[in-house]
Amino acid sequence: MLSKAYLSSLCLLLAVPFSRTLPVESSLEARTTLPAGCYGKRTGIHFTTYSACQIPSDDPMAHCPQSAVLVDPSMTHISSDYPTYPTIQQAIDSIPNNNRRYTILVMAGTYHEQLNVTRAAPLSIIGQTYDPLDRSKNLVTVIGGTANYNSRYTDNAFTSTLTVAPNLNASLTGSGPTGFAVPEGTPFGNIDFRVYNIDFRNTEFDISNGPALAISVSRANAGLYYCGFYSYQDTVYIGKLGNAYFFQNEIAGQTDFLYGFGTAYISNSKLLMRSCGGGVTAWKGTNTTFENRYGVYIASSDLVAANSSIAATMKGKCALGRPWNNLHRSIFMDTYMDASIKPVGYITWSAIPIPPALLGEYGTYGPGWDPVGRNTTQLQAGVLTVMTTELTAAEVKKFRKPEDVFITEQGKKNIDWIDEQFYAW
Ligand SMILES: *[C@@H]1O[C@H](CO)[C@@H](O)[C@H](O)[C@H]1NC(C)=O
Ligand SMILES: *[C@@H]1O[C@H](CO)[C@@H](O)[C@H](O)[C@H]1NC(C)=O
Ligand SMILES: *[C@@H]1O[C@H](CO)[C@@H](O)[C@H](O)[C@H]1NC(C)=O
Ligand SMILES: *[C@@H]1O[C@H](CO)[C@@H](O)[C@H](O)[C@H]1NC(C)=O
Ligand SMILES: *[C@@H]1O[C@H](CO)[C@@H](O)[C@H](O)[C@H]1NC(C)=O
Repeated sequence: MLSKAYLSSLCLLLAVPFSRTLPVESSLEARTTLPAGCYGKRTGIHFTTYSACQIPSDDPMAHCPQSAVLVDPSMTHISSDYPTYPTIQQAIDSIPNNNRRYTILVMAGTYHEQLNVTRAAPLSIIGQTYDPLDRSKNLVTVIGGTANYNSRYTDNAFTSTLTVAPNLNASLTGSGPTGFAVPEGTPFGNIDFRVYNIDFRNTEFDISNGPALAISVSRANAGLYYCGFYSYQDTVYIGKLGNAYFFQNEIAGQTDFLYGFGTAYISNSKLLMRSCGGGVTAWKGTNTTFENRYGVYIASSDLVAANSSIAATMKGKCALGRPWNNLHRSIFMDTYMDASIKPVGYITWSAIPIPPALLGEYGTYGPGWDPVGRNTTQLQAGVLTVMTTELTAAEVKKFRKPEDVFITEQGKKNIDWIDEQFYAW
């Protein structure tokens, strides 16, 4: 058997020439081109396709894809081989409107920006790091965004640190049971947007003070790998026709901090509760003529108090979610929950009736799992109801994997935009 160290250096050798000669035209440059043993998830070896590009060095672009653009706030790395911009948004705006995939390498540092990606063709934004498979070692942080306190904005869409949507209408939340009526003919945005090793913080107020999004994805496909999203109320918003896959992320928030209309699948991640309030999830389903799987799915993750000093005050108080309309769908699967979780699991929101909302759980474990509490009736729109649905293996099957929930109107799987190095199923 090859030693890990040997295989790791072999991977790096293979990857470096590979990354130098990437065809600019390829729309899928980052797909599997290295031996499977080079990928960390399966082997424990800290290596990915972008590793060589991500390692900080005097020549930061030496091992990056050919079409890559550099973000260097000091503007000291200037070359005729690649464009350099001082901010991430300037780099995003510089990408031509063609069908090619582009990569933006962001140098280590803290960036005070609100980012907005409207481009339709594939785009990857990667942060410099010595260890792409350890999120806690991320070297790039984006701080930006605002909070919609006292409803000072007409919509939460204006608050986000990172927005991925074709235009403003697509990203509006709106209000009422069905939200903003996105006009017919609004285009789809990015078909394959990826971020690696970047933390996003909406810290206008370092307390809960109205909706303050850290990420907003609508009419777009987004893969977030080894990223962090930090805010309080409404941290993660996946809007209409939005698809988002979060792998090995840390997401911190309180009050409905996973909310939206689209489809989110959060895998192998850490969800940090900064306090209780509302629920962890609040989804609005949509009636469609085809069978949709819109909802939020949390798999093989940890749902825990943000730190030990607040954990004691939160004991038994945090709800798994509350239905934003009667088509809400959320499922926690194989997830560890600490003692912060309310024994009943999910709670109600105003007088909205529950069915056909799906407030699901499957394979929960840890101190937050209370089978008797979950099976207790709560007053729901005047009716005593058990809110939390414990799904059986047969019932959870159609929501189990990303390919089960990211589907086309025809019911075909729609996961080509997910980096297959991080298929965790
Ligand atoms: C994102 O950019 C587009 C195009 O400039 C703009 O119309 C839209 O309002 C921006 N979105 C947000 C949330 O600021
Ligand atoms: C946004 O939606 C409004 C209201 O439906 C519509 O009047 C407007 O034309 C739309 N704007 C764009 C850029 O599509
Ligand atoms: C614990 O988390 C709370 C909520 O985010 C924060 O206000 C507090 O400063 C944190 N305490 C420590 C010791 O990190
Ligand atoms: C979905 O359709 C049902 C049945 O027509 C209706 O009662 C409900 O209000 C609709 N929900 C939404 C969110 O459109
Ligand atoms: C839930 O409670 C009902 C009534 O108390 C009981 O009949 C049922 O067996 C319980 N279900 C589970 C899964 O504990």
